[in-house]
Formats: sequence, C-alpha cells, structure tokens
Amino acid sequence: MPLRYLTAGESHGPALTAILEGMPAGLPLDEDLIAIDLARRQTGTGTGDRMAIEKDRAQILAGVMEGVTTGAPLSLQLINKDHANWKGKAVPAYITPRPGHADLSAVVKYGYDDVRPSLERASARETAARVAVGAVCRAFLNTFGITVGGYVTSIGGHSATLDGLPFDSRISRARASETQCPDPDTAELIIKAIAKAHDAGETLGGILEVVVQGLPVGLGSHVNWDRRLDARLAQAVLGVPAIKGIEIGNAFDNTGRQGTHVHDAIVPGPGGLERRSNACGGIEGGISNGQPLWLRAAMKPIPTTRKGQDTVNLATGSASLTYYERSDVCPVPRAVIVLEAVAAIVLADALIEKLGGDSIAEMKPRFDTLRRATLDDVRMTGQPHIFWP
Ligand SMILES: Cc1cc2nc3c(=O)[nH]c(=O)nc-3n(C[C@H](O)[C@H](O)[C@H](O)COP(=O)(O)O)c2cc1C
Repeated sequence: MPLRYLTAGESHGPALTAILEGMPAGLPLDEDLIAIDLARRQTGTGTGDRMAIEKDRAQILAGVMEGVTTGAPLSLQLINKDHANWKGKAVPAYITPRPGHADLSAVVKYGYDDVRPSLERASARETAARVAVGAVCRAFLNTFGITVGGYVTSIGGHSATLDGLPFDSRISRARASETQCPDPDTAELIIKAIAKAHDAGETLGGILEVVVQGLPVGLGSHVNWDRRLDARLAQAVLGVPAIKGIEIGNAFDNTGRQGTHVHDAIVPGPGGLERRSNACGGIEGGISNGQPLWLRAAMKPIPTTRKGQDTVNLATGSASLTYYERSDVCPVPRAVIVLEAVAAIVLADALIEKLGGDSIAEMKPRFDTLRRATLDDVRMTGQPHIFWP
C-alpha cells in the first residue's frame, strides 16, 4: 500500500512524532489546518483534566515547502506540554495493574519493573499523532471532494434516534454538540449519565459511526484478503485503543433478515446504475461501490476508574485495589475524530493506490475519469466465454 505511517512517543515524554510517507506532492498544508482536528480530540463531555494542560499543535518538520507537500516523508511533532511536570521528578511505583489496560500483559511480555512503561505508550495520548496524520489525509481526500465525518449514536446505553436523518445533518448536528451526538434528547441523557458516572467513580463506553461521502467506485479489491477495503478499515479502527467492535453498514442487523431484504438492489437510473438502499455500507467484495461508506464502532468503558477495581499488588503479591491517576470518564465523544482520522488514512491510501501518480496535478484528471459506473462503462456482449480452454 503506497501510504504508510508510524508514530513514536510516550504520554508524558517530551513529544509525539509521526512520519507519513507516500503523500503526493502539491497538497496545500499548514499547521493551522491540522490544529482544527487536534482541537476536536481535546474537547467534549467526559474529558479529563489533561486537556486543560495541553493545547495540541503539530509542528511540520519535513515534507512541506512553501506551504505544499513535496512528496517527501512528512514529519509531524507534537510537544507534550505536560512533560515539564514530570521531567526530573521521582514517580511513585505503579504496581497495581488495571484490568482492561495493557498494564499486566505488557509487564509480563516485556519484563518491566513498573507498569508505567506500558501505560505510557498504550495511553491514548498517542492518538493525537494519528489525528495529525489523519488531518493531512483528510485534506488530501477533500481535494477530490471526498469528506469524512462522524458522530456518536450511543453512550452508557442511551441510544440516539436517527432514522431518516441524512448523514450531513447527523455530522453537522454532532459537531455542534459537546457529546457529538446528533439527537438533542439523547445528548441530554448522555450528559447526565456521564456526570453520574463521574460522581460514582465509573467510566462509560459507547457506539460511534463514521461516514465517508464522495468516494468513487473501485477502492480496495476482492483479489486478496489484505487488499479488501473493509478489512483495511477494520484493522485501522480496531487499532484505536478501547475500540472493541466494528460493523460495516448494517452488518449485525442484517444477520436477522433474509437475503432479498438485505442486499442493495441494482436498478437502472438517470445517473447510470443506481442502488435502492445502502445496507452494505458502501463496500461490496472489499471494493467501494460509490455509495456513502459507513461504519460503526463499539468503544468499551475505559479501564481507569476512580472507583477501585480488584487487582494484585505486583510488589507484595497481595490482593489490592487499582490506583487512580487523572483520566477521562468517557472519551467516546473525543474518539469520533480519532476514528475519522484512521478512516481518512485508509481511504487516502486506497485512493493513491487506485490513481497512482506522484502529484495531485497528475491524479486530478485520473480521478475525474472515475465516476459512478454507467451502463455503458460496463456493457457486456452477452456472448458465452470458454474461460479455461
Ligand atoms: C480518545 C481516547 C481517550 C482515552 N482515554 C483514556 C483514559 O483517560 N483513561 C483510560 O484508562 N483509557 C483511556 N482510553 C482507552 C485506553 O487507551 C485503552 O483502553 C488501553 O490502551 C487498553 O487498550 P484496549 O482497551 O484496546 O485493550 C482512551 C481511548 C481513546 C481512543
């Protein structure tokens, strides 16, 4: 796949770094643009105190000259402002691993003498670097008229009623709500539920959706498992900490229906080949089909709870309660931008793969030839073939 990225950095270390390679030349890019997405990761109801310390900004250290990408690897750096509060200070031993976090499994795997090295890297602070990379990929997709948006549909069991509400309205309403939920009645219930969880020392999980509009037909492929667009999205989405489930389209609901009531009928129409519905979420055979791509993800209640959970003290071996350190109560609203980012990265990769080319100027005319399949594009002779003569 032509686009690849890596991140490095601990939660309270000096900085997060991301290297993104494969972004074509000619994309206008500046730090203010990336800052818009970074700010969205730092707001929302259920957010912990750290957001008061950090106001994230990604510095572009390489890959951009005169305000446009050069085609060289991009280097993005986010300074951790909280680092100053940790530098040079002795930190109490962290010896009570939290159930649900990387704490215990990473200690067993890497042989650390303290839980902190695992939590410093497993912490979702790292997702700030992914959001910065995602902002670049979003800018790239936007130049082709492709948009990525998301929203929360449920938190703590309070589920939004969104039937019939168009994707654009869901996304714009979500952006205007601190809960990222487009349904104002449910948003109110969510705010109360998060306040209650906060008071009880608890955390809450939820469900989010991401929608990508303006995609052409033909991203991804059926020819091998790792080229399937749905599989690539699943890896990226499940790669976000605390995301434990993904559904493309109405996947789970569809299991209870008969086939002829599930699949999106192909009908002739003025725009060429039309679909009567989009229950498959815009991907068939691992390939985008030109319909809006939509996916749903399940986020668990995060593991750091003010109310202690049963664990074992790894210094004494005795039963203990978990130690609490500043944390979110419910980062589900903040996770919307993270999921948008990882989806944007996968789709930018798939689009570059489809179009080829080293610069936006080279890709634009190619993109313009990719339109929704008309009958003429796919018209067949209707003659028999001898496929294995
Ligand atoms: C945006 C975001 C913020 C998060 N904030 C916290 C947090 O404040 N406290 C916490 O315990 N987990 C938080 N998490 C989840 C943990 O990072 C995650 O549960 C942990 O790394 C273990 O990974 P796993 O849940 O995928 O097994 C957050 C996740 C995301 C996506």
